[in-house]
Amino acid sequence: MLRTVLVGLGHVGRAVLRGWERVPPELRLVGAADSRGRFCDEAGLDPRELLSRKAAGDYDSPAERPTWQWIAELEPELLIELTVTDLQSGEPAVPDMLAAFAAGAHVVTSAKSHQRSRAELQRCEAAARAAGRLFLDHAAHLAGVPVTEMMAGVGMRVTMLEGVLNGTTNYLLQRLEDGVGFEQAVAEAVARGYAERDWRYDVEGTDVGLKLVGLARRLMGGAVLDLEEIRFEGLGPGRRGIDGVTPELVAALRAQGKRLKLFGEVRLEGGDGAPALAARVYPRTLPLADPFARVAGFRNAIAIHGELNGTRMDLFLAGPGAGADQTASRVIGNLRHLVELLRL
Ligand code: HSE
Repeated sequence: MLRTVLVGLGHVGRAVLRGWERVPPELRLVGAADSRGRFCDEAGLDPRELLSRKAAGDYDSPAERPTWQWIAELEPELLIELTVTDLQSGEPAVPDMLAAFAAGAHVVTSAKSHQRSRAELQRCEAAARAAGRLFLDHAAHLAGVPVTEMMAGVGMRVTMLEGVLNGTTNYLLQRLEDGVGFEQAVAEAVARGYAERDWRYDVEGTDVGLKLVGLARRLMGGAVLDLEEIRFEGLGPGRRGIDGVTPELVAALRAQGKRLKLFGEVRLEGGDGAPALAARVYPRTLPLADPFARVAGFRNAIAIHGELNGTRMDLFLAGPGAGADQTASRVIGNLRHLVELLRL
C-alpha cells in the first residue's frame, strides 16, 4: 500500500475524488488538503465522504501552516499535487513537491508552477532524482491528451512541435464566433473550470508558454526552456496572445473563410553540433479547412514533426485539452501507470 496525500481540492481535485474507483486499490489516501484545511486518517479517507465534508467545510484541522510542512510531517509515499498555478511564488506546488521528495515520496501532478523558470524545474527534477522517486507531471500538459506519455513509443528526433495548446482561449474564440461578448465568454470558461485561476494566463498566452516548456523537455530531448526565452506575440503593439480580440474581428475573418487560433510552437534550430530551441506563442489565422482550424471548444491539438534516418514523420494528436474530468482522467492514468512501474 502507498500512503498517499492529495493537495488541492478544486475542480481537478474533486474530479479525481469522484473518479476514485478508477484509482488502483494499492493507494491509501491518508491525507487531503486545500487552502482552507486538512483531512487526515491513517486508516484511509473515504473519497465520497471527503467530498461532502469539503463542501460543508468540515475539516479535521484548519490550514494553520503551509501544506509543505504538513506533508513533511505526514511523510507520505505518494503526493498527488493538484493545486492552481502561481507564477509569482510557485506556491504551494513547488514547496509541496520538494517536501514530498525530501520525505521519499513519488509525485503525480497536474500543477504547472514548477515550470515558471528553468531553475525551478531543474530543482524539482534534481530533488526527484536525488530521492530516486518518480515525478509524473504529464497532466500539466494538455489535460486529457496523453502526448508526453506517448513518447515512450517514439524514437525519432523531434525537430518541431506546434499546436492549439490552450482550451480556454479555443473555447473563447468559438464563443466569440457565436456572437457572445468577450467578458461573458470568459465568465463561462471560468465557471466551467477550464480557465486558470488568473484567466489572463490563458488569454495572454502564458499557459501555452508553460506547456511549451514541459512539452519541449519531454518531446525534444530533455533541454529545458525558460519562460523568458519564449517569444510572446499578440494582436497589436503591447498585446500578447488573443488579448484584445473582438467578436467583430472573429466575424470579419469568418467572412473571409478564416479562423483565429492561439498557437504555440517550438523548433529545433542549429545543426547537430549546437542545437537550440526557438519557441513562440502567437495568434494565427488559418483557412477553415486546416485541421487546426477545426479543433473545437476546449479541445487541443498538437503536431509533432521529426525524422529518423532521414525519413520524416509527422504525428497529429487531438483531444480534450482542459476541464476537470479531462485532467482527472490523465492524473488517474498516471496513478495507474505509477503502480504498474512500481509493480505493487
Ligand atoms: N487553463 C488551461 C486551458 C487548463 O484552458 O488549457 C488546462 O491546462
